[in-house]
Amino acid sequence: MIVAPSILSADFNNLGRDTQMVNDSAAGLIHIDVMDGVFVPNISFGFPVIKAVSKIATKPLDVHLMIVDPQRYISQVRDCGAEIMNVHQEACTHLHRTVAAIRDAGMKPAVTLNPATPVETLRDIIADLHMVLLMSVDPGFGGQKFIESTIGKIGRLRQLIAETGSSALIEIDGGITLDNAPKVAAAGADIVVAGNTVFSAANPTEVIRQLTLA
Ligand code: DX5
Ligand code: ZN
Repeated sequence: MIVAPSILSADFNNLGRDTQMVNDSAAGLIHIDVMDGVFVPNISFGFPVIKAVSKIATKPLDVHLMIVDPQRYISQVRDCGAEIMNVHQEACTHLHRTVAAIRDAGMKPAVTLNPATPVETLRDIIADLHMVLLMSVDPGFGGQKFIESTIGKIGRLRQLIAETGSSALIEIDGGITLDNAPKVAAAGADIVVAGNTVFSAANPTEVIRQLTLA
């Protein structure tokens, strides 16, 4: 299992230290949650913070934009050093154009679905995607409870990927714990995002290592 610690749950007074912890861990990516207070009922941080993390991060940046019309910011996200740009299906009117523009900008395009959005909505775009991110909580906050119906949804996404010949990876975000990570892995996920489970732990590096074994 690839693990993507979410710095939303890091200690912002020690963001450099926490980014260095991720560098020194078994994490495969560093997950960066941007919230605009419109698409989701919370505001997190923006480009200056991503740039600061990017300067010292050695893991690829997985930038999850919980914002309306994310296509407005493609070049800024790229200039922050993002490897993966995650946009919400629900936030893009012309998703095909946005995905193409992310690729043209030199990043890997990923599309995120909220818990109530069916995977079938991606059938005609999934061949173009590097990754699909399934939200396992309603986005906006760290530390929420995992929505159990995500397990069945991972299976339906796996099937859609097989049917369409896509090579998209499956990432799951929200409420991931050491208890539910094996279930998420067994259902077919490639990557888990973990915020609270990692950063509230006494030994975050060890928790990341354990999640990779899920
Ligand atoms: C939720 C964010 C998540 C969040 C996950 O809106 O997209 O990435 O940081 O945090 P936990 O793992 O605490 O649910
Ligand atoms: Zn996220």
